[in-house]
Amino acid sequence: MQASPSPCPPPPPDSCFRCPQRVTCGTRGGDSVASFWLPLLAGRRRRREETAAPDRGEKRWELQARAGTATSSYPWFFSLILAGSSQGELKGELKRCSWTMENVLDISAREEGEDSGSQRNRVLTEEEWLTKWELRNIGFHNGQGHPCLKKYLDIFLNGRNGLRIFFPLCGKAVEMKWLADMGHHIIGVEISEIAVKEFFTEQNLSYSEETVPEIPGAKLFKSSSGNISLYCCSFYDLTSTVAGKFDAVWDRGSFVAINPCDRERYANLMLSLMNVGCCCLLVTVSYDPNKHKGPPFYVPDSEVKKFFGQCCDIKQLEKIDCFQERHRTWGLDYFWEVLYILQLK
Ligand SMILES: C[S@@+](CC[C@H](N)C(=O)[O-])C[C@H]1O[C@@H](n2cnc3c(N)ncnc32)[C@H](O)[C@@H]1O
Repeated sequence: MQASPSPCPPPPPDSCFRCPQRVTCGTRGGDSVASFWLPLLAGRRRRREETAAPDRGEKRWELQARAGTATSSYPWFFSLILAGSSQGELKGELKRCSWTMENVLDISAREEGEDSGSQRNRVLTEEEWLTKWELRNIGFHNGQGHPCLKKYLDIFLNGRNGLRIFFPLCGKAVEMKWLADMGHHIIGVEISEIAVKEFFTEQNLSYSEETVPEIPGAKLFKSSSGNISLYCCSFYDLTSTVAGKFDAVWDRGSFVAINPCDRERYANLMLSLMNVGCCCLLVTVSYDPNKHKGPPFYVPDSEVKKFFGQCCDIKQLEKIDCFQERHRTWGLDYFWEVLYILQLK
């Protein structure tokens, strides 16, 4: 859940901000302002400690701007810390910059790459994915499993047993074994046979292999216990006639892996595979899409809403700073995972 806002100090009586919703401005220890910066704006966000640096007696202004009507879309805060000049200069500075709430939203949207930047037209072929598996270029695989699935398991399962749980673009995700061991039925789809076979081998599961008459070239790999079925074919070939409908979906490394131009197609197919009341945990990633070509592809919050919002109730559960050294080597300076829960209406 998003942290609640820290209480804002009362606004000065003659606040210069056009403040449609909830922009509050207050003094911290004086009236001089020399510079300002936006440490928490998306893409430039630094760790909270930096922005919350103790006031060392210098004159400091802090503006906390909460994105009003877009709070649910951008549920974080932007802090402006201004130090060293007068209140009048501050006003002038802010006016000069046309610093209105609309600007805040506009900048946050751009910084968040709402337009997906240069990734918009990027296409990865299925052959390229197969090659990744052949060359062991599979840094996306997390042998430990995703902590959020454990953390939100109760919400995900909602007390239900024996669910049909879908893993789109499953790779060899270890979470499939976790959930199968809890008595659920796992259905996955993965283009790479290497990945599917490695899953069963690494999990010490014997399996059988059969063709899928409805999908030319597809194979179905089934664990001997019968509770894990992995289709080796393209996700886009799957239908509810072939695979049935699902009660729950774990979408990690899937919506972010498909080509950005295929998102609508993906979402429509996914929705057609979901049973009434189906619950989907969706993990997206957020970073500057102009600095890394993907995959994983940056998925703006707006696109989750655009493609799933009509049929699903959507709630953002968590936004996690996952920045690692490998992200730095990609040229990034921040990398977030965003966890949503989608509930078919
Ligand atoms: C980023 S990986 C994520 C794997 C898995 N979800 C995980 O969390 O480890 C994406 C996977 O999708 C597979 N893939 C790519 N395009 C596919 C498609 N059209 N249909 C099925 N699988 C696909 C790739 O082979 C790859 O294993």
